[in-house]
Amino acid sequence: MKISFLSLAAAALAVATAAPTKRQAADDKVIVGYWVPWGRVPVAALDMTKVTHINYGFGILIKKNPDPATITFDRYYDGTPMKELVKRGNASGVKILMSIGGWTGSQTFSSVVADTAARKRFINNALVFVRKNTLPEYAENPDGWGMHGLDIDWEYPGRGAAICNQVSPNDSANYLILLRELRAALDAEFPTDRKLLTAAVRVMPFDGTNGQPMTDVSAFHPYYDFINIMAYDIMGGWSATTGPNAPFDVVPGADPFSYNQSINSWLQAGWPKSKLVMGTAFYGRSMTATVDMVAASPRSIFAPKTNVTPKGGSSDSNEPNFFCNEGSVYSGMWKWKEVREAILTTSLTTPVAGWTRVWDEGTKTPWLFRQSDKTFISYDDPESLAIKVQKAKADGLRGVMYWDMTYDYNNELLNVLQQIKCTSNCPIPTPRPTTTTAVVPTSTTTVPVSTSTSPGVTPNPGKCTGVANWNIATVYANTNTKVVHAGHLFSNKWWTQGDEPSVTNAWGVWSDQGAC
Ligand SMILES: *[C@@H]1O[C@H](CO)[C@@H](O)[C@H](O)[C@H]1NC(C)=O
Ligand SMILES: *[C@@H]1O[C@H](CO)[C@@H](O)[C@H](O)[C@H]1NC(C)=O
Ligand SMILES: *[C@@H]1O[C@H](CO)[C@@H](O)[C@H](O)[C@H]1NC(C)=O
Repeated sequence: MKISFLSLAAAALAVATAAPTKRQAADDKVIVGYWVPWGRVPVAALDMTKVTHINYGFGILIKKNPDPATITFDRYYDGTPMKELVKRGNASGVKILMSIGGWTGSQTFSSVVADTAARKRFINNALVFVRKNTLPEYAENPDGWGMHGLDIDWEYPGRGAAICNQVSPNDSANYLILLRELRAALDAEFPTDRKLLTAAVRVMPFDGTNGQPMTDVSAFHPYYDFINIMAYDIMGGWSATTGPNAPFDVVPGADPFSYNQSINSWLQAGWPKSKLVMGTAFYGRSMTATVDMVAASPRSIFAPKTNVTPKGGSSDSNEPNFFCNEGSVYSGMWKWKEVREAILTTSLTTPVAGWTRVWDEGTKTPWLFRQSDKTFISYDDPESLAIKVQKAKADGLRGVMYWDMTYDYNNELLNVLQQIKCTSNCPIPTPRPTTTTAVVPTSTTTVPVSTSTSPGVTPNPGKCTGVANWNIATVYANTNTKVVHAGHLFSNKWWTQGDEPSVTNAWGVWSDQGAC
């Protein structure tokens, strides 16, 4: 995750199954949250019924340490919430993992994995997080933290990322050796109480010795329970134009990375669906455009911008990061709760005066624009998130992850993630506004937002021929499934069961395709 560590100033943060085609039961679906102490949401305030795994961010690898294999965390600052999380996790069945790395905490992974002795020291250090404490409860330095697994958040093997990172073309090959040794050490020490091993990864498979994403990463997956794709931080203050933080799909002529692309790229490189978890952003990124993006015709999410990132939400800071100084710059990040508290105060689609909300159909994400100073914010909301969750579900992936647990507003976004497990009465996302449109950058035609307020469509004999009647008990898992009900043809916008199609409910799951 392209995030800050402590300073808040960030620039950016199983064993192989023998049953290859076995479908994941809904119970196996995971909802993974990252929790960070500097987000200032107490562990006691977390709703443990809505997640299956919590990754504690972070234990870090920094060059300041004499031994590159030392995993740094603060026994007081981190230790208290780590203990609280384990306690709450044990009581509620939520798995707690120590996440090692992060944007500024991945500095020495490269030299650790390259050296046999350093790997051994790293593994010994990492195992302390999953060991049971054998010292008295009041001991200041427990010899174990009782966690349920480890999450490796190396950003990124073979691709430096933060300026403080060591990097080598051999990173991914060496990482594989570490994984094999780490998995073996976990299994040797915990033969019955199996410990989890997961990772956070970027939108492309690990980079190979040629500096390009590997075309086959199947050797890696046996060691992980699952990996979480960070399908965000795709465009931001560092980009050449304004654009989406976390696009659902790629748009011709723009940045080639997206949620959809990352799924395809990992699956094509031999990754199993059952071990693929899709990361979502509970935050937006702001940039300063040089044109009035709302007045522009046609409107586009891609516009020229200045190279200075504006201050984001109220918590954004331009203090240099304590662990890796990448400059005194703002991240431009807006937590979802900051967007809700300052801009979308009364409605998900109608901002306060001065701002305009636009839905971008190309990337399937909303954006906000303030004309007075040309501030642009790309973000995710319940509607864009629902599209992503439905995709993960329709593709049979393992689940969803979010960054991070301290950004939400009254669980508004986390509630949408619940759809990954949902089998009936699933929460329905809120509608996009009908007043705005946006276009793809290289297209000459506008893509209007469908309003679907179209009762009284001319009957079209034959259009419903062969289409099954809607059934209250049927699960409609794939979007655009056609059904007939009350003399009309309908198609679903997302996963649904038990929702009756209606011509008057334009915002419901079923969109009216007209009379039969
Ligand atoms: C929590 O569960 C883990 C794994 O089963 C165990 O090692 C640890 O001691 C438990 N900790 C607490 C505080 O219950
Ligand atoms: C990468 O590994 C090869 C083979 O072990 C070795 O010869 C080479 O020196 C390594 N390169 C770097 C940059 O460490
Ligand atoms: C996602 O990617 C696939 C394969 O590249 C492509 O066919 C599809 O149109 C994309 N969009 C969606 C919404 O799946």
